[in-house]
This record gives sequence, structure tokens and C-alpha cells, in this order.
Amino acid sequence: MSELFQPLTLRGITIRNRIGLSPMCMYSCEAEDGLPTNWHLPHLASRAAGGTGLVMTEATAINPAGVISPQDLGIYSDAHTEKLKQITETLHSLGATSSIQLAHAGRKSGTYRPWSEQRGYIEDWSLTRHAPSPIPFSEKSPAPTELTKPEIQTLIQQFVDATHRANEAGFQIVELHSAHGYLLHQFLSPLSNQRTDEYGGSFENRTRLHHELFEAVRPALPDHKPLMMRISATDWVDGGWTIEDSIKLCQSLKPLGLDFVDCSTGGTVPNAQIPVGPGYQVQFAEAIRKEAGIPTGAVGSITDPHQAEAIIASGQADMVFIGREMLRNPYWANAAAIALNTKPVRPSQYDWAVS
Ligand SMILES: Cc1cc2nc3c(=O)[nH]c(=O)nc-3n(C[C@H](O)[C@H](O)[C@H](O)COP(=O)(O)O)c2cc1C
Repeated sequence: MSELFQPLTLRGITIRNRIGLSPMCMYSCEAEDGLPTNWHLPHLASRAAGGTGLVMTEATAINPAGVISPQDLGIYSDAHTEKLKQITETLHSLGATSSIQLAHAGRKSGTYRPWSEQRGYIEDWSLTRHAPSPIPFSEKSPAPTELTKPEIQTLIQQFVDATHRANEAGFQIVELHSAHGYLLHQFLSPLSNQRTDEYGGSFENRTRLHHELFEAVRPALPDHKPLMMRISATDWVDGGWTIEDSIKLCQSLKPLGLDFVDCSTGGTVPNAQIPVGPGYQVQFAEAIRKEAGIPTGAVGSITDPHQAEAIIASGQADMVFIGREMLRNPYWANAAAIALNTKPVRPSQYDWAVS
């Protein structure tokens, strides 16, 4: 019996299998207003129809300046809530669990989308790039503006407001994006956070925002809905954020309502030496699961059904998140089921005809 196809219950939400669509920016809000377009619904729905258990949106900005590219999804007005509701209703009708990744890009905000003729940061961007410290990402990047303490409080409130909206839109799970060198991760890493107030310096100070955030965001979700966090478990750089730091952070957030840790790595600085290869980040999901006693998700170059099955069956992680392989094949989960001698869960519209 396949372990990959066993359901997973987090709080009051049961995910039909252990496969998640990893959050992936689609750079497809054409009016630069953060509203889903005709792209987003079929993109996410096709992964749900393909048998995926948990369908996660792309990084969705909690305020207009929090976007990576101006074409990213946002969740900062009632119009966003209404449009996103169409997505959750569709995902649920296809048997998938819906999840939204709430994000702020911090010093990495305001870049051209990848297929644009122009590359990198938008030079005349009209919004402010905020960060814990005025340190640019690289020599070629613009210097961000240091957040004041009142602005940090505003930011927390915007995460809370976004969580309320996510709940109203019907999302069953909320994930806070604290990975890949974006704003929340920028607070954690000593490479990007060199503040001298209570939000910088010691481990306790660099993680203060996360504690305040969890205390504020958790009550914004009904009890039965899980709160997840994506982290970069290591910066892969000497003097940066480490797996030991990640374990300590997750241990301390568990009593504040951290239900699940989605374990990625890197993104703080451009020159990290990352040993990319099949399943290269699984070790971090395993360490956090074991040491912090929290369910985890593994992500990164997981492409093969047997590889995914082994990760779950050996107890290295509770879920696998599939990124690029699900861009290649939206039906990856159903193909994995067949490869593992399990019956795929197809919509009735297809199932009666092909099984
Ligand atoms: C096109 C694209 C967009 C991405 N956007 C996001 C994002 O919005 N949020 C996030 O946490 N990770 C993002 N990622 C990272 C993926 O979620 C995933 O962690 C990464 O691609 C590694 O998994 P894979 O090897 O299965 O692709 C993105 C990756 C790709 C390829």
C-alpha cells in the first residue's frame, strides 16, 4: 500500500494524499492589480484535476509593495477575496485542499517578470522596497529602505488582514512565506538583518517578528484551519541562517500554532554554494520533523513517484511538494498513483470513461 497516497489530517483539514503543488509565481496579473486572471483558475484547477492533494497558490502579496513582480497575485482588498473565492470553490469541487501562500518580497520586490525583455529590478519602480536593514541583495540590486518599528507593526496587521481575507475566500490552509530571501526570511538571517533595535542582533531579536506574527495571525484563522510556514532551512553560507536556527525557531513557534513546516533553502544572498541534486533539501524536512516534532514537507528536485514514496514511507517528511515537474505534467499525482499501483482519483467526468 502506498504511503504517498494516504490522507494527512492537520487540525480539522484532511488532505487526500501527501502530494502538494509547490507555490509558484505565474507573473500573470496583467493589470498589475494582484487580481487573478483567466490564467490562474485553470492553472491551479488542472493540478487539482490531476489528483494533487494540496494545491497552493503562488506567493500572494499582503500589500501592493510586497510583490516580487508587479504581475504577482495580491490579497489586500475585498475584490481579491471575491476573485480568489472562485479558485477555492473550484479546487474543492475537484477534491483538492486549497492553500494560499502569504508573502512580502522585501528587498527583492519590484522585478521584471522572467520572460520580460528587461531583466532584474525595475529601475523606476514607484513603490518602496522595504527590508529589515538597508542592505541590497547584491551589488547590482537597489538598496531597500529600513522598516521603522511602527511600519513593522503595520506589516503584521497586513498579514492578519490577509489571513482574514484568505479565510473568507475559502482557503483551508494558510502558509506564511519565510523563505528564499524574502521579507520574513530577511529578518531571520544575520546576512540581511543588521538592525540594532529589538528586531535585530541576537537570535531572539531576529526571530521576534515571527513570534509577534504568529501571535497575531493564528487567531485570525478558525481553529480547524492549519497554519503553515515555508522556511529556508539554511542560507548555505557561513555566518548565515542555519538548520540549527531553523529547528530552534520551529520549536518556539509550535506552541504559537505552527502546524506544518514546508522546508526549502537558500535565497538570502546570490553567491551561496547550493548542492542541488535529487531531493537535496529532504534532509532539512527530516531534521525539523524529528527535532521540532512538527509535520514537515519536503521540496526540491522531487520528480519520481518512487522517490516521493520513499520520502514519506521512511518518515523523512509528511508531504512532498512538487514544483517544476508539475509544470511539465499537471497530472503528475495521478501518474504517480499508477506507477505505485494505486487507483488514481480522477474527476467523475473522466473516471467513468477511462478506468
Ligand atoms: C516558476 C517558479 C515560481 C516559483 N515561485 C515560488 C513562490 O511563489 N513561492 C515559493 O515559496 N517558491 C516558489 N518557487 C520555488 C518552488 O516552489 C520550489 O520550491 C522549487 O521550484 C523547487 O522545487 P522543484 O524542484 O520541484 O521545482 C518557484 C519556482 C518556480 C520554478
